[in-house]
Amino acid sequence: MTTTTLNDAAEQVREQVIAWRRHLHQHPELSFHEEKTAQFVYETLLSFGNLEVSRPTKTSVMARLIGSQPGRVLAMRADMDALPITEENDFDFASKNPGVMHACGHDGHTSMLLGAAKVLSGMKDRIKGEVRFFFQHAEEIYPGGAEEMVQAGVMDGVDLVIGAHLWAPMEYGKVGIVSGPMMAAPDTFWITVFGKGGHAALPHQTIDSIAIGAQVVTNLQHIVSRNTDPLDNLVVSVTQFIGGTTHNVIPGSVKMWGTVRSFDPKLREEAPKLMERVVKGITEAHGATYEFKYEFGYRPVINDAEVTRLMEEVVVETLGAEWVDHMRPNMGGEDFSAFQQKAPGCFFYIGAGNKEKGIVYPHHHARFTIDEDALEVGVKMFVNAARKVVM
Ligand code: NI
Repeated sequence: MTTTTLNDAAEQVREQVIAWRRHLHQHPELSFHEEKTAQFVYETLLSFGNLEVSRPTKTSVMARLIGSQPGRVLAMRADMDALPITEENDFDFASKNPGVMHACGHDGHTSMLLGAAKVLSGMKDRIKGEVRFFFQHAEEIYPGGAEEMVQAGVMDGVDLVIGAHLWAPMEYGKVGIVSGPMMAAPDTFWITVFGKGGHAALPHQTIDSIAIGAQVVTNLQHIVSRNTDPLDNLVVSVTQFIGGTTHNVIPGSVKMWGTVRSFDPKLREEAPKLMERVVKGITEAHGATYEFKYEFGYRPVINDAEVTRLMEEVVVETLGAEWVDHMRPNMGGEDFSAFQQKAPGCFFYIGAGNKEKGIVYPHHHARFTIDEDALEVGVKMFVNAARKVVM
């Protein structure tokens, strides 16, 4: 099977893939509630024939294409969930589900993988080994759907796993490849500072939780700038600060919420200890007390060197060397990492922005969209990865 044959087959499903994407875009569903989406995917996969289709969890779908000869098992993953955002695009295929929108491109991920499944299911007799298609629920909300699917056994026997994200900050015409650490572990913290409330004109009779909380925020920034190795990657962001009711009352407490991002497991373990030391020191210094809660989220996405090399070859052979973008890692999070715990894997980005077409809005924006030409790129990447691994 040649690249040209597979690319032609991918082009033949192009219109169908766009139609699926638009259907899914009109009917977005929130994380863990992808009932109609999963049913649609399940029925569509069944219509292709040659696939063993199952439902590993309530709102996920798996399809197995078992070849006529033995060989390796290649898994491919798409996520299917949408976000609680009111769409501001005026497409004729805009969301029909008020307050819910496919604003991260997961509609595209699902339709690309359906396209690949359609192409490959017609080539069963050429497959040595197996291609396994994961249609995953709930990527956006911790603890995430990937971990649930792994618990359900979908990775049993898998030799390598790949997944893609349509990426609007990258222009159409590029595929982003990163070897090693690619996306961070996203962890979450909550801090409450307890002072003593009172009259704003008599601050000496209070313990001012706002003034102390502000120092906590400032001093947390010293962790990255002064405590950790400048060559290590760490982000500490306070993203919410709630306290007070009016201009003349010092509140008794303030609450903070935020995120910590890291790649390195040791640094990840260390971060909450460094943070609590700051919170404890600042609050004690001013006679206040505190509560500190910390939750570890998804593991970091660390791409396997071998699988990444293979995927880079797929880009070069399928699309051309000029398509390769050796992009920098970023501190976003992705539960694709759960699959990578079980087998070597590679997560890659498909450029889906297009300034000329006005496709410029960031992910999770009410006017987010993708260049639909990128869907064909995804199908080509998946089917040609199968060519290299199981054909
Ligand atoms: Ni996403």
